[in-house]
Amino acid sequence: MKKTALLYWAPGGNVEKAAREIYGYFDPGSVEMSTVAEFDTSRLNEFDQFIFGCATIGAEVWLDVRADNKWNEFFVKTEKSSFAGKKFAIFGLGDQVKYPEHYVDSLGYMKEEIEKRGGLIVGKWPTEGYTFYDSEGASEGMFYGLALDEDQQSELSSERIKKWVLLLRKEFLV
Ligand SMILES: Cc1cc2nc3c(=O)[nH]c(=O)nc-3n(C[C@H](O)[C@H](O)[C@H](O)COP(=O)(O)O)c2cc1C
Repeated sequence: MKKTALLYWAPGGNVEKAAREIYGYFDPGSVEMSTVAEFDTSRLNEFDQFIFGCATIGAEVWLDVRADNKWNEFFVKTEKSSFAGKKFAIFGLGDQVKYPEHYVDSLGYMKEEIEKRGGLIVGKWPTEGYTFYDSEGASEGMFYGLALDEDQQSELSSERIKKWVLLLRKEFLV
């Protein structure tokens, strides 16, 4: 059976809530879930596929504004690692009304870091149904992963998660 690591940051808010909901759809024997801060990066090769969750905090320069973002630490620690042959599905929290020019920008940051290390992004998600002007996390009508908006469209989140997990089941297998 393929092994999946579901890693998220930050704990205690909307990202963790979504992570727990996603985790609930998988067989607990095949998925390990933890914050990215708790994950020991020397274990990367124990896993075939990953689900990464993050929020966009900071409109201009995501990296600088939130220095305590543990995703930054993870990508520094894994700078020399190869993600080749592994699949990555990402989900991002954001607010499309307050930050319409930077909605879920962090999906773009995650995608770039994963691809730099040779990982394959799966689980792209249509931008239909969201209203924003710009996003580093999308191109040509698709987000690089699941976009969630607990601030403005929380009533849609559970259905979006359910459909995205169905999509992942297919894309993780191929
Ligand atoms: C200081 C601050 C900056 C934010 N900047 C952005 C942003 O640039 N783009 C965006 O889509 N959402 C932005 N958001 C919204 C958060 O991503 C959103 O509320 C998310 O659900 C928070 O997740 P959490 O509860 O796990 O921290 C920002 C929120 C805060 C508090």
